[in-house]
Amino acid sequence: CGSGGGGGSAGKGSGHKLVVGFSQVGAESGWRTANTKSIQESAKKAGVELKFSDAQQKQENQIKAIRSFIQQKVDVIAFSPVVESGWDTVLKEAKDAHIPVILTDRAVDSKDESLYVSFLGSDFVEEGKKAGDWLVKEYQGKPGDVNVVQLEGTTGSAPANDRKSGFADAVKGEPKFKVVASQTGDFTRAKGKEVMQAFLKSQPKIDVLYAHNDDMALGAIQAIEEAGKKPGTDIRIVSVDGVKDAFTAMSQGKINYDVECNPLLGDQLMDLVKKVKAGESVPRRIKTEEGAFTPEQATAALPNRQY
Ligand code: AHR
Repeated sequence: CGSGGGGGSAGKGSGHKLVVGFSQVGAESGWRTANTKSIQESAKKAGVELKFSDAQQKQENQIKAIRSFIQQKVDVIAFSPVVESGWDTVLKEAKDAHIPVILTDRAVDSKDESLYVSFLGSDFVEEGKKAGDWLVKEYQGKPGDVNVVQLEGTTGSAPANDRKSGFADAVKGEPKFKVVASQTGDFTRAKGKEVMQAFLKSQPKIDVLYAHNDDMALGAIQAIEEAGKKPGTDIRIVSVDGVKDAFTAMSQGKINYDVECNPLLGDQLMDLVKKVKAGESVPRRIKTEEGAFTPEQATAALPNRQY
């Protein structure tokens, strides 16, 4: 067995397929669908047997799935934690069963770093910062307050926490930026629309929408249009992810800036899984490389966008 603690019954010796239990957050967004597809396709390509479980955005379902993977003695457990806290007990159970755990996409806030071997995913603070930096530049030299409404991701999730703090940090030097309303839209289109409708009713003046993901931005665009306003013009929009639907909206002038978050983690994850199982050392943290898009850049990238 590998020094990563691999103790599962399958995957030992030759002729056995490596078995990975993967607990996915859900299917809340276009990003998530692309992430699931990437992981499933890469597992197939790598000859890895993937036990896939969809938690429907509930931590209790993820904990159940992880326990079931432990019981099934999979070789490696990988998961994208829906929220940051509350994982120590179940991760300790995996450790006691000598099954290595890899975090993908989202982090946990466990103090005990021995509970997982690696974390593969984006730097969400950096993403929030890019959104804020864009805003600062966009309004440079323009006088007057800028009222911002924020659609937050799932409460307690790493991307919601980090994109909020990264953004706040980037704009804090300029008191003209006022976040006048901020609420969770749970990373979904439906909730994004619903919360934006409420913002439009309660806020007399909205200059900018900052959405923690594209699906919420796309839902909000519907709400803005139904209220008789022009998204991208009357209300400027900055979002995160870079999915195809958002690029289409950008090509129509409805989103002004999109910070990329790459969901295509499958190949890197399978690579990690194999290394961990082989007892090779792996980096504790692997950050995804990503950029950001203006409407012109998004329009140009649209024909070849994979997700
Ligand atoms: O954890 C990544 C985030 O989760 C993506 O930005 C969002 O679209 C997804 O639901």
